[in-house]
Amino acid sequence: MTDKYIPYGRQWLDDDDIKAVVEVLQSDYLTTGPKIEEFEEKFAAYVGAKYAVAIANGTAALHAACFAAGISPGDEVITTPMTFAASANCVLYQGGKPVFADIDPDTYNISVEEIKKKITNKTAAVIPVHFSGQACDMEEIQDIARKNNLIVIEDAAHALGATYKGERIGNCKYSDMTVFSFHPVKHITTGEGGMITTNKKELYDKLRLFRTHGITKEPDKYIRKTDESWYHEQQMLGYNYRMTDIQAALGISQLKKSDGFLKRRRDIAEIYNQELAELEWIKLPYQKADRESSWHLYVIQVDEEKLGKSRKEVFDYLRSKGIGVQVHYIPVYWHPYYQDLGCKKGLCPEAETVYKRIITLPLYPQCDYDSISYLLNEFKKVEGKG
Ligand SMILES: Cc1ncc(COP(=O)(O)O)c(C=O)c1O
Repeated sequence: MTDKYIPYGRQWLDDDDIKAVVEVLQSDYLTTGPKIEEFEEKFAAYVGAKYAVAIANGTAALHAACFAAGISPGDEVITTPMTFAASANCVLYQGGKPVFADIDPDTYNISVEEIKKKITNKTAAVIPVHFSGQACDMEEIQDIARKNNLIVIEDAAHALGATYKGERIGNCKYSDMTVFSFHPVKHITTGEGGMITTNKKELYDKLRLFRTHGITKEPDKYIRKTDESWYHEQQMLGYNYRMTDIQAALGISQLKKSDGFLKRRRDIAEIYNQELAELEWIKLPYQKADRESSWHLYVIQVDEEKLGKSRKEVFDYLRSKGIGVQVHYIPVYWHPYYQDLGCKKGLCPEAETVYKRIITLPLYPQCDYDSISYLLNEFKKVEGKG
């Protein structure tokens, strides 16, 4: 073992971030104050969407999006197994059924052909996940959705700053809503936090209601007309999924640095691409030409035959050297909870094959070159270790 530890992801906070948070702590509003709207406006402008709704976390963002999409018992929603459980759990929260479509073995994103195969007369929506920060085939997905009257919710938890055909993910050009996460390993952080973007006013209104108990304080929206100035109205069952002003202030400050964070991520990914290319037992991440990844994750495949060692041996060796490698992801439906719901192993063979080979390398903006070169050295030693 070693004292060195390189995590797979980490936030980068500076004095400006801390100052922004302290200012809110000294202000009148810790929550439901002016920082929320400011963050929403700046975020919407950054990704190129009309509206943005700040929310407690990325999972709540997915839940709210499924609610606004009208997902209800009996509905099927198609998503990928190669994701964090939240991308499917959000469908269950609304009483719907997640249906897993297999992945493209090159990009690890949901396969357009597999989506087509999974559509039934119960399908109500599709949730493509931009795995690792590389955009899904959104034009084709939108085309299928239009033909089958489906809502499209992009899970962009990995993809803040990613582009597709020259435009930023989150502008909802090919979808109804896009959700983001601000967990500390993501591109910008608010501790916990999330955002939903949309260009549709009707969805925006629903998302805002859902975030705060289903209660509105906007008189022009009241069902019961009244001149009581204290009046407010619960119109549906919502949740307390609000983001605080403390988090929003941090988000505003972080967003200013987003382009710099992205550049660092891309630079590190490029170093990995170049330095690992010489190792024959590694398959590098495949990138499509018409989109630019935001490199949330750098995922390699281990060719066990060429190496003469198992993925587990490689993983355990790197961990023993203080390198915080991970595996993203165990196919969602392999989890016992999903197995109990009736999902069978073998459902998505490509995802299962990829899962057995992958390892995620550390990748975060503040990762220094000494750590990267230490890590690359250890990778080069893997072959020799018996
Ligand atoms: C693809 C994906 N979707 C959704 C989420 C949920 O985001 P949060 O952790 O902010 O709830 C994550 C978080 O890791 C994720 O990776």
